[in-house]
Amino acid sequence: MVAYIVLVLGLVLNGAVLSNGGKTSTFVRKVEKTIDMPLDSDVFRVPPGYNAPQQVHITQGDHIGKAVIVSWVTVDEPAGSSKVLYWSENSKQKKLAEGKLVTYRFFNYTSGYIHHCTITDLKFNTKYYYVVGIGHTERKFWFITPPEVGPDVSYTFGLIGDIGQTFDSNKTLTHYELNPQKGQTVLFVGDLSYADKYPNHDNVRWDTCGRFVERSVAYQPWIWTAGNHEIDFAPEIGETEPFKPYTKRYPVPYEASRSTAPFWYSIKRASAYIIVLASYSAYGKYTPQYIWLRDELPKVNRSETPWLIVLMHAPWYNSYNDHYMEGESMRVMFEPWFVKYKVDVVFSGHVHAYERSERVSNIAYSIVNGKCIPVRDQSAPVYITIGDGGNIEGLATNMSEPQPPYSAYRESSFGHAIFDIKNRTHAYYSWHRNEDRYAVEADSMWFFNRQ
Ligand SMILES: [Fe+2]
Repeated sequence: MVAYIVLVLGLVLNGAVLSNGGKTSTFVRKVEKTIDMPLDSDVFRVPPGYNAPQQVHITQGDHIGKAVIVSWVTVDEPAGSSKVLYWSENSKQKKLAEGKLVTYRFFNYTSGYIHHCTITDLKFNTKYYYVVGIGHTERKFWFITPPEVGPDVSYTFGLIGDIGQTFDSNKTLTHYELNPQKGQTVLFVGDLSYADKYPNHDNVRWDTCGRFVERSVAYQPWIWTAGNHEIDFAPEIGETEPFKPYTKRYPVPYEASRSTAPFWYSIKRASAYIIVLASYSAYGKYTPQYIWLRDELPKVNRSETPWLIVLMHAPWYNSYNDHYMEGESMRVMFEPWFVKYKVDVVFSGHVHAYERSERVSNIAYSIVNGKCIPVRDQSAPVYITIGDGGNIEGLATNMSEPQPPYSAYRESSFGHAIFDIKNRTHAYYSWHRNEDRYAVEADSMWFFNRQ
């Protein structure tokens, strides 16, 4: 009898603790087969003209937003140059920047001519036109540089992860483009082409993906994070250089933040300081990434950039069964720093669904004290999983039950998010599922800066 009472009491107490969990959305997306768009889809169309540039994409090219790296591929011949012609909207003076050319082989695939050109000394907050393909078929695009870095500069980031190239991916990108909140730069949290799902990692799917996303990334920078589908490690076919296609195609300005590898780096943009971390590079004590991050965090001047955002691929706080606890070892290494330096928000992908955490930390644990349950912590970041871009692997629908207290909202749907910085104290965050109209927010929260 006593044992029975203790058992009942235990269940009641247990239930009381667990009922702190947040909201699991009741929205259930119709489960459909997720397939890649076929090779002859209009979104993969090769631009017409001899040696026409394709897969045009841009990213930030320095630490503060006055440079842009322009990349594109030509397939007929290398000649025609890696030059970019560019001019600001209000200027007739055109400038020419010289880039460089790379190619690579991957098993039986040979890449086109991949051009990278960094254009520097741009003015802040200015619209620039640029032309690539000089000498053969020219194509013209434009971008707008960010405002000068400062604490009250408003700026709007889009969040996309694990996009792939399915019909769902196309919906996600369309929803992002038509969202009336108008993201100015995409923070991409990794897993881009999923070419590695094809026999011999058919790199033709890197090319099709590049053509698919061009309609966004040729006009606004995407900030790149490496995911596991960027590794392309395939010793069975003799491909043993990790990240080969990714690094040949998607350069990042890692040297500008004194990083020694393109997988972890930082940039400033408007009022945000963005740190990109590498889930698939070493992060243990004494490793280059560890040392870089240890030295990087104290450099962030929050009176200049009040918003500290971290991007990484594998989430630390994830209550789906997919990839459960895969981020745990990195969390153990870095979480005390995130709390100490009051990181505002951490965006991850990897899990193909959506989840937002409470502000929690789990840093009290030592091997003897047994304190291994996340606790509410106002110095901790909010962790957001946004791996819901819509790739060939489909949705993650399997959740751990009951919803753990650290999880504030979770839903198995495809979508994207917007992080809209208003000023040094306020930012508005919203998540948009693909099934809704463009302006609908399925989840949202105000961020109040704690600095
Ligand atoms: Fe992933």
